[in-house]
Amino acid sequence: AGAMNCLMVIFGATGDLTSRKLVPALYHLEAKELLPKAFGVVAVARKKHNTDEYVASVRQQAEAHTRQTFEESVWNKLAGRFHYQSLEFDQGDQYESLKKKLDTLGEKTESSGNRLFYMAVSPEYFGTIVQHLKNHGIVNRKYGWQRMMIEKPFGRDAASARELNQTLRMVFEEEELFRIDHYLVKEMVQNLMTIRAANQIFEPTWNADHIDHVQIISTEMEGVGTRGAYYDQAGALRDMVQNHMLQMLALTAMEMPDYLTAENLRAEKVKILRSLVPFETEEMENRLVLGQYERYHNELKVAPDSTTETFAALKVFLDHPRWEGVPFFLITGKALAEKTAGIMIQYKLPMGSWSLRQTQQQLAPNRLIIQIQPQEGVVLSFNTKEPGTLNKLMAVNMDFCQNCLAGTNTPEAYEKLLLDAMKGDQSSFTHWDEVEASWIWIDQLISWAAAHPEAVKSYPKGSQGPAYEERLKHASALEEKEEK
Ligand code: BG6
Repeated sequence: AGAMNCLMVIFGATGDLTSRKLVPALYHLEAKELLPKAFGVVAVARKKHNTDEYVASVRQQAEAHTRQTFEESVWNKLAGRFHYQSLEFDQGDQYESLKKKLDTLGEKTESSGNRLFYMAVSPEYFGTIVQHLKNHGIVNRKYGWQRMMIEKPFGRDAASARELNQTLRMVFEEEELFRIDHYLVKEMVQNLMTIRAANQIFEPTWNADHIDHVQIISTEMEGVGTRGAYYDQAGALRDMVQNHMLQMLALTAMEMPDYLTAENLRAEKVKILRSLVPFETEEMENRLVLGQYERYHNELKVAPDSTTETFAALKVFLDHPRWEGVPFFLITGKALAEKTAGIMIQYKLPMGSWSLRQTQQQLAPNRLIIQIQPQEGVVLSFNTKEPGTLNKLMAVNMDFCQNCLAGTNTPEAYEKLLLDAMKGDQSSFTHWDEVEASWIWIDQLISWAAAHPEAVKSYPKGSQGPAYEERLKHASALEEKEEK
């Protein structure tokens, strides 16, 4: 099914997210003629604008964030779909004009009453807005389908996430809720399943018999920038680990469903998230490394004595027969040496001491590296003989660079998210059960961190973060087993 005719209603239309991500995504979809035939955007925000002023106000940012050359004709076509509505989110009576606008536009654009709501506002408004949508009959299934897309953060712990979810569920069904985790639509995150399931060399060896450890990384060079107010209350565990990092872990570790339906996929991921082993207090030292970059305190809207972590490295185990004893290392942070994301599967060494007998040389373990960004690709490392010698080993890489292929043009995350929501495909969105399981597990770490501010180590900007490899005994899971 293609994207279906609908009205998209954006709450928070004058915000950063709308102009930097949503409008450029809509522009690209328009350029590729992927938008539904009858499609309108109702932009809702506090400011008093008319539609022309609004469109003019988002144009510059939109232009700056488009990949292709900006075409006037495409922009005009898109701009023609916009309708601005000013609204104070907590003023109930003002929702009547919104309702009227939606009703008239619904008829005019023949969008058949399908409505795609999008929360691009700060989370404190989610509850209020949803409540008013319900009270004023703006969410009405008699019109057509009604869906809600929600940005993170989805709560700040299990309790607040539950509360938010209950509020949403008073108005929307689980099938109508599209909780965004933009990592799920990254091209190589999606490719992970194919690489694994479509290759006989990987799926049969995707387990504790063959895999030594897994490393999941997402690092950034930038600091918190203008988001200090939010980030200082969040920290890396909430901002990255609870969602993106655990989602990548779940996709890597889950059992492969026979059919990749949204339901199957989400059910398998939940099982992994529920199998995350809690950290014992005594072992925190060897499981969790937290850091804060130097001069983080000088960032805008960050508390002068903040102990918020901007770096986290974790050593995680799963209570799961496939992964017995296999550590998963999660590493993420800001103001580090490079912007990169990837998943590395490190295999065990061949049985016996083949390498030592043959060559007196230590074998390098096989590695499968899924490169997510900025490079998209797959690297497989393995051992060969050094040319011209008989018994010297050499580790080499087979390197597939996906973004080097001519013609690949990975759509931006938000293009795919919007299209999927219009089609009603939930595979790349998180189910409540996943969100809840992730929060329950991470809550214990967050409370431990809050009680142990001394655990947050300072690290220089542009470095690799605080020394974590030794503490987590990162190099090999085997070493630790030997010590025990
Ligand atoms: C967001 C976090 O979810 O992901 C940000 O809130 C982070 O703090 C961003 O910078 C990273 O996303 P990406 O796609 O640049 O890796």
